[in-house]
Amino acid sequence: MADNSLSPEQMAAEEQVTANVLASFDGTPDPRLRQIMHSLVKHLHSFARDVRLTDAEWQSAIGFLTNVGHITDDRRQEFILLSDVLGLSMLTVGINQPIRGNATEATVFGPFFVDDAPLVKIGGNIAQSAVGEPCWVEGSVTDTDGKPLAGARIEVWEADEDGFYDVQYGDDRTAGRAHLYTDEQGRYSFWGITPTPYPIPHDGPVGHMLAATGRSPWRASHLHFMVTAPGHRRLVTHIFVDGDPQLADDSVFGVKESLIKKFERHPAGTAAPDASIPASAWSSTAFDIVLPPSDS
Ligand code: BEZ
Ligand code: FE
Repeated sequence: MADNSLSPEQMAAEEQVTANVLASFDGTPDPRLRQIMHSLVKHLHSFARDVRLTDAEWQSAIGFLTNVGHITDDRRQEFILLSDVLGLSMLTVGINQPIRGNATEATVFGPFFVDDAPLVKIGGNIAQSAVGEPCWVEGSVTDTDGKPLAGARIEVWEADEDGFYDVQYGDDRTAGRAHLYTDEQGRYSFWGITPTPYPIPHDGPVGHMLAATGRSPWRASHLHFMVTAPGHRRLVTHIFVDGDPQLADDSVFGVKESLIKKFERHPAGTAAPDASIPASAWSSTAFDIVLPPSDS
């Protein structure tokens, strides 16, 4: 937006800086990189002009990004967290996995996926030593025409009832995660933990930014899925718990209406679908997954 208090000379001088920087990228051999650099410079300069960025604010932004870099290591990725809370991760998910008819919608990946989680059989327990109310999850994986996809690989991971993933335990335990394969009818089921809300890591610069802007670090209760089947688009998503008060205020903007599922509560001693009789109260939910072809 034009600042009317600026003299024509001042405006011309500012625009000249932008023009010079844009021109410096004109010779970029890769046309895509050229496009990205031009657009980045245009938007960044226009942002600085829009807010009339002060020297102190520029310094503070450099300090913030430096702190984001310093806290980032093999286990903690504060840059991705920053992208998540700014909604950039969800926007990128939306751009790259556009809505396709009845295909299941994608959401943010998050930092807690681990390769090589253990294999469980259909009906197995992914919780292992993670503590929480048992939750029976069942469903199917089909293509967009409803054809069952046998042998689809499903990765699932979730936090325990205290809101911690196994990678945050500080020991080498694997818990609350596994992979399994759909059967000949494209069906799957497993025991996990009823998801509960938890805050994203908020003891670093991103958490300080949330606090300074009056935002909450909490995520709506969810269970992560990554589903792959040959010839089909990989799906990274979650399911969310219907009725969770956090649904309207998810710190990383990951909630989509179609991913909110009913989690039915059952008292202790009620028989479960696998004929077991859990000693404690438990819940159950259903999630049918639809994958579009990989070229869509
Ligand atoms: C998660 O759901 O695990 C998550 C997603 C984004 C940021 C932090 C955590
Ligand atoms: Fe999560």
